[in-house]
Amino acid sequence: MLPHCSLLLLLCIVQLLSPSSALPFEQKGFWDFAMDSMDSDGMMTMMRDEEDGSAFPPPELPTCPFGCQCRLRVVQCSDLGMTEVPKNIPRDTKFLDLQNNHITELKEDDFKGLTNLYGLSLRNNLISKVHPKTFAPLKHMQKLYFSKNLLTTIPKNLPSSLVEMRIHENRIKKVAAGAFSGLVNMNCIEMGANPLQNSGFEPGAFKGLKLNYLRISEAKLTGVPKDLPDSLHELHLDQNQIQAVELEDLKRYKNLYRLGLGFNHIRNIENGSLSYLPMLRELHLDNNRLTRVPKGLPDMKYLQVVYLHSNNISQVGVDDFCPRGFGMKRTFYNGISLFANPVKYWEVQPATFRCVSDRLAIQFGNYKK
Ligand SMILES: *[C@@H]1O[C@H](CO)[C@@H](O)[C@H](O)[C@H]1NC(C)=O
Ligand SMILES: *[C@@H]1O[C@H](CO)[C@@H](O)[C@H](O)[C@H]1NC(C)=O
Repeated sequence: MLPHCSLLLLLCIVQLLSPSSALPFEQKGFWDFAMDSMDSDGMMTMMRDEEDGSAFPPPELPTCPFGCQCRLRVVQCSDLGMTEVPKNIPRDTKFLDLQNNHITELKEDDFKGLTNLYGLSLRNNLISKVHPKTFAPLKHMQKLYFSKNLLTTIPKNLPSSLVEMRIHENRIKKVAAGAFSGLVNMNCIEMGANPLQNSGFEPGAFKGLKLNYLRISEAKLTGVPKDLPDSLHELHLDQNQIQAVELEDLKRYKNLYRLGLGFNHIRNIENGSLSYLPMLRELHLDNNRLTRVPKGLPDMKYLQVVYLHSNNISQVGVDDFCPRGFGMKRTFYNGISLFANPVKYWEVQPATFRCVSDRLAIQFGNYKK
């Protein structure tokens, strides 16, 4: 199965090549259930199985928890005011939707027998307690949606089959060493909007993970964490309190395609720190406190999109973006934003943008006092 994050990445790369990439950076709704049901390996085959089996009478009357809807191995129990996980969930359930309820706790036997479960949504409940064995039966679960709950730690003993986890908007302050150990299939984690500081990650917190995508936006980070998986293609650390990017901060992340550092308090990006990101396509540094264009952009062969708007940049040099020789840059820029900076745009030499694909790719605008 091609994981969604890779799909997303492809989509993003395709998008980068189109002019729409100059739009504000926004996470697409790739966790949507609609996309889940289009998953070629997952739901569709499952639905076909269901049709194929229609010639045989069911051995017993199928059960469905009271108030829920059970169809095609999808059990829908959202928005029912439930305070606990319902009983009698059919054993062949592939997707269980419990979102928008008032569940406070996951107990040991809540998911007993659900060995075929592929996706579980617990989004928007009041869960603060998870029994350490609650996920033990879920040997094939790939997607776990746990955002908008009251968790203070990453639940223990997550199934090793897990590919995506969304645990945004909880109360997680601490990620213990080995919190994700054994999760060899994990591809994407969204864990933004938790009160996480840099000290909240114990050394080894991400050990064993080969993630493509990680988002820890809207948290309380004051620096780029140094211990994240080195496999990352996308790292989103927007809306934190990062003050600076120091020389070795990005050393580990040499596979990054996209880096989001917008809406932080960055005043300085140390000369040389971007040289550790040879594959980078897209860099978001908007809404910070930079006074200069960061050093090293001309050497980034594949860089196409740089957001620098809403900073305190007062001058732009003719060699800030483009190399002096043309051979060095493999792809031209197709999005540079510089508006809402105190730079006098009429003083910027046109040659500054000699390696930009199209004039329209530069968003300059007037600086409003
Ligand atoms: C940045 O570092 C490079 C070498 O790594 C050096 O050539 C360059 O002069 C430095 N630039 C500044 C502004 O310090
Ligand atoms: C912007 O930069 C100038 C120096 O270039 C500095 O004097 C000023 O305080 C900065 N403004 C902000 C809001 O950081």
